[in-house]
Amino acid sequence: MQHDHREQLKHSWQANADAWTAAVREQRIESRRLVTDAAILRAVLACAPKRVLDIGCGEGWLCRGLAAHGIQSVGVDASAPLIEVARAAGSAQYRVCGYAELDNQADLLGQFDMLVCNFALLEEPLAPMLETLHGLLAPHGSLLIQTLHPWSARGTGPYQDGWRVETFAGFGEGFQEPMPWFFRTLESWLALLHETGWRLEWMQEPLHPESEQPVSLLLLLHSAPR
Ligand SMILES: C[S@@+](CC[C@H](N)C(=O)[O-])C[C@H]1O[C@@H](n2cnc3c(N)ncnc32)[C@H](O)[C@@H]1O
Repeated sequence: MQHDHREQLKHSWQANADAWTAAVREQRIESRRLVTDAAILRAVLACAPKRVLDIGCGEGWLCRGLAAHGIQSVGVDASAPLIEVARAAGSAQYRVCGYAELDNQADLLGQFDMLVCNFALLEEPLAPMLETLHGLLAPHGSLLIQTLHPWSARGTGPYQDGWRVETFAGFGEGFQEPMPWFFRTLESWLALLHETGWRLEWMQEPLHPESEQPVSLLLLLHSAPR
C-alpha cells in the first residue's frame, strides 16, 4: 500500500507539472502569496548561506529567489517536466533526482551550507532520506524545512500520522491527478528528525495575516548524527 502511495505521489508530479507551474508562477496559492514564500526566503537569507541545495525544488522559484540575492543554488526534483521548466527559467543548476538517489549524487553535487525542503517532504518512510542528507552538508551547515503546519490540516482527518490525499482544488485548473501525502503530527516530526540525527535550532509557525492561524511549520536543524 505504502509503495502504491509513493508511486502515485511521484506520478502526480509528472502529470501535474504544467498546472503546478502555472499555480506557482501566477501566485494562485494564497498561503504562499501571503505567508510561506516570504517566510522561507527570510529564513534562508538570515543564515546567509553561500551555496544551497533546494530539495524537491519543483519549478525552481526558490532557487531564482535566492539568485536574486546572490546566493548560488542547485535544485533537485524527481519530476523531469518540473526540472525542464526550472532549467528554462535559469538562475541555478537543476538535476532530475529522486530522494532515494541523493546518496549516489553526493560526489557530483558536492556539499552545501544549507539544505532546504520547501513543502517537499511528502512521503513515508522519510528516515533513509533524512539520514542521507548529512553527507551533503558542509561543516556547520543547516537543514531548513518548511511543511504544512499539522494544526492547519486538522480538518482532513484524525490528529495522527497517516496518508492523506491532496486534490489541488482551489489551485486553478489543469491538475490531472490527486497526490497522496503523508501527514505527520508535530510530535512525529520532532521524533523523526531527532532519530535521524538532526537537532532543532529553532522553530517558527508563520501565521495567516487575517485568520491568525498557523499556516506552516519552519524548522532549522543542524547535523548531529549518532
Ligand atoms: C509541493 S511541491 C514543492 C515544490 C517547491 N519546493 C516549491 O516550493 O514550489 C513538492 C515537490 O517535491 C517533489 N518531490 C516529492 N517527493 C519527491 C521525491 N521522493 N524525490 C524527489 N522529488 C520529490 C515533487 O516532485 C514536487 O516538485
